[in-house]
Amino acid sequence: MNTNRLFPQINGLLHGGDYNPEQWLDRPDILEKDIEYMKKAHINTVTMGVFSWAVHEPTEGNINFDWLAEIMDKLYDNGIYTVLATPTGARPAWLDEKYPSAMRCDEMGVRNHHGLRHNHCMQSPEFRQRVNIIDTALAHRFAGHPGLLMWHISNELGGYCYCDTCRKKFQQWLADKYDHDIEKLNKAWWTTFWSHRFNSFEQIDPPYKNGENCVLGLNLDWKRFSTWSATDFMKFEIETLKNAGAKEPTTTNFMEMFYDYDYHYMKDFIDVISWDNYPEMHNNWQTDADQLLERSFNHALFRSMKPSQPFMMMESAPGLVNWRPYNKYRRPGVHELISMQAIAAGSDTVQYFQIRKSRGSSEQWHGAVIDHIGTDDTRVFKEVEKLGADLEKISQIAGTISNNKVAILFDWDNRWAVDDAWALSNETKKYDRTCMDIYNEFMSLGVEPDIISSDMDWSNYRIIFAPMLYVLHDGIGEKISNYVKAGGQFLATYFTGYVNKDLLSNLGGFPGDGLYKVFGLKSEEIDTLYPDDKNSITLLNKANASTIEVFDYQELLRDVTAEVIATYNEDYIAGTPAITKNSYGKGNAYYIACRTNQKDLEFLYKEILEKANIVYTNLPLGVEKHSRYSGADAYDFYLNCSAESVSIDNVFGINMLTDENVNGHLSLEKYGVAVIYSSSSTSSTKSSTL
Ligand code: GAL
Repeated sequence: MNTNRLFPQINGLLHGGDYNPEQWLDRPDILEKDIEYMKKAHINTVTMGVFSWAVHEPTEGNINFDWLAEIMDKLYDNGIYTVLATPTGARPAWLDEKYPSAMRCDEMGVRNHHGLRHNHCMQSPEFRQRVNIIDTALAHRFAGHPGLLMWHISNELGGYCYCDTCRKKFQQWLADKYDHDIEKLNKAWWTTFWSHRFNSFEQIDPPYKNGENCVLGLNLDWKRFSTWSATDFMKFEIETLKNAGAKEPTTTNFMEMFYDYDYHYMKDFIDVISWDNYPEMHNNWQTDADQLLERSFNHALFRSMKPSQPFMMMESAPGLVNWRPYNKYRRPGVHELISMQAIAAGSDTVQYFQIRKSRGSSEQWHGAVIDHIGTDDTRVFKEVEKLGADLEKISQIAGTISNNKVAILFDWDNRWAVDDAWALSNETKKYDRTCMDIYNEFMSLGVEPDIISSDMDWSNYRIIFAPMLYVLHDGIGEKISNYVKAGGQFLATYFTGYVNKDLLSNLGGFPGDGLYKVFGLKSEEIDTLYPDDKNSITLLNKANASTIEVFDYQELLRDVTAEVIATYNEDYIAGTPAITKNSYGKGNAYYIACRTNQKDLEFLYKEILEKANIVYTNLPLGVEKHSRYSGADAYDFYLNCSAESVSIDNVFGINMLTDENVNGHLSLEKYGVAVIYSSSSTSSTKSSTL
C-alpha cells in the first residue's frame, strides 16, 4: 500500500461524481436503480449536497438532513463513499429575501437580484451567520460517519464583490498591508502620477468600472484582496466544520487556469487539491492532442500545488457538456483517454458531473453516467463501466506520485500584471499560451514538467523555465541567483524582471533585482511587432547555421558578457544577441530575448536536458507520457491523444490494462492508453530506457 494515499478507507482509485438525489426524493424506484447502476459501473464515491441548501433548510431554521442520512447510509452499505459538500454554492430564496447583503454587488456597485449561483458576498456578516448555522448542523450530523470521505467546501469559488462591506474590508486589508501608513501605499502605487494620491485609506474604492481603474497597483492589490477574501470565506467554512467536530480532510474544487484568484495562495488552506476538468474535444481549431495538452498543463498545475500527494479530478463530463458554444459528444474511446490522463498526471480520482441527469432546468442536457432513458446499456454508461473496471485493474497506483525534474514558473500575479501593463500588445501578450507552449515542447520530448510558483520550493528541479517573469517578488532575484550558482539550469525570456512586486520598474537595468549579473546582459528595449512584421535569428554554433522565425516581441540587449547562441538577422537590431547562455557558479542562465516557436528551440531544450542529466526521447506526434512512482515501482502512462494509431519504441514492462509484457515496442490504437508497470528491484521487468 502506498503511503501517500488520500483516503485510507478506499483501497484504490476513486470513481464517481456529483450525485443529486434530492431532485428525486419522490422517486424511490429511481434512487434504488441509481445504486444498482453505480455498482455496475464500479463507482465507489459520490459527491453530495453541493446545491442542497433549499432542501436541507426549506425555511429559515427548519433544518432536516434525514433524507441525506438515509441515502448516505444506504450508499455506504453498498460500498459507496461520500464526499460531502457544504451547500453554500447557491442560496435559497428565503435567505436573499431576508438578508439581501448575501447578494453580491457588480463592478458598478449595483446589488444583484436573487438567483443563479456562485454569487454570494464572501464578507457579508448576515450570510456568514447563516453559513455558520447550516455548516455546523451538517458537521454535527455527519462528521465521523464511516461513509464520509471528506468535506467539499462550497463549489467553484469565484468572482469579485464590489459592495460596501467589501469596499471597507478592502480598505482595512490595504491599511494592514501598508502598515497603516498611507504614504507607503502612495509610494508603492506611484500615485503622484496623474494626481492620484490618497490622503487616507477611507478614500480608496475598489476598481469600479466607472471609477478608479488605471492605478495598476490598486488593480493588482484588488485581485490579491479578492483572493484573500475568498480564502477567508473558505477558511471560515473549514473552521466552522472543525469547530463542530469534523476531522475529515477538506478540499474545494478549483477551475482550469482560473483567472479571478491566485490558487497558489489558496492551496495552503485545504488538505487536498481538486479541480474540474472539461476538455473541449473534437473542435475545429486544434487537434484533440493539442486540446488534451491544455488539460495536461492544468493537471500539472494542480498536481504541483501539493507535489507529495495525489490530487483529485473532482468533476469531468461523461459524454458531453451543455454550456459550450457547440456541445459535441466525445467519440468512442475518448472517455477512457480523458480519465486516464488525469490518473497519469497524478490524480487518484475520476469523478464526474454528474451521476444522473437532472430532469429539468439548465443542466438537464448535460452529460451524465445515467441518462433520461434510464438504462445501463447506453454508449456512455458502457464506457464509464469499462473505465471503472480498468481503474480497478490499476488500483495499486493510488498514492503513487510524480517526481519531475523540470518546472515551469507560473505566477498568478505576474499573469494579472502582464495583462494589465500598458505595454506590448494586448493582442499578443499571451502569457498563459507561452507557458503552455513550453510545457508542450518538454512533453513532446517525453519529459513531464511541473508548474510551480516563484515562491514554491525549487529544490527538486534541475531545470526551471520562467517565461515572461515580468514581476519579481521579493527575494526572487537572489533565489534565481542561488539556484543557478548551485548548478541549476534556468531559462528566462523577454519581459523578465521589469518590475517589483508593487509593479514599480526595477531601476538600473532589466532583468532587475541583480539578475543582469546572473544572465550576463541587460535588456534596453522591448519592441512589439505587428503580426505582419518579420524578423529571424541565426544560431551561431551550428554547422548549418539555421534560421528561426521571430514574431511578436524582440528585445535589444546590451552589456552582454554571456555567450551568444543566436543573433538577430534583420531590422535595426540585426547582428545583436537574441539568445544567450551565461555560466554562473555551477549552473547556466539562458536568456531568450525574442518570441519564437518553441519547436524551433528544440536544439536548446535538448542541450539543457543533457546538461541536467535528464533523459529525453522524441515521442510520436500526439502521444503523451506521464509517470508515477512508489519506491522501486514505476508506472508509465502512454496516451495516444490522436485519432491515428501509433507505435512507440523503448517501452519495457507489463501493460496493466492488458497483462501483456511489452518488450521494447508498444502499439496504441487511436485514443488508446497503456499503463506500463516496471520495477527497478526485479530483473524480470526492465525499466523504461527512455
Ligand atoms: C461545473 C460545476 C457543476 C456543473 C458543471 C457542468 O463547473 O461545478 O456544478 O455545473 O460545471 O459542467
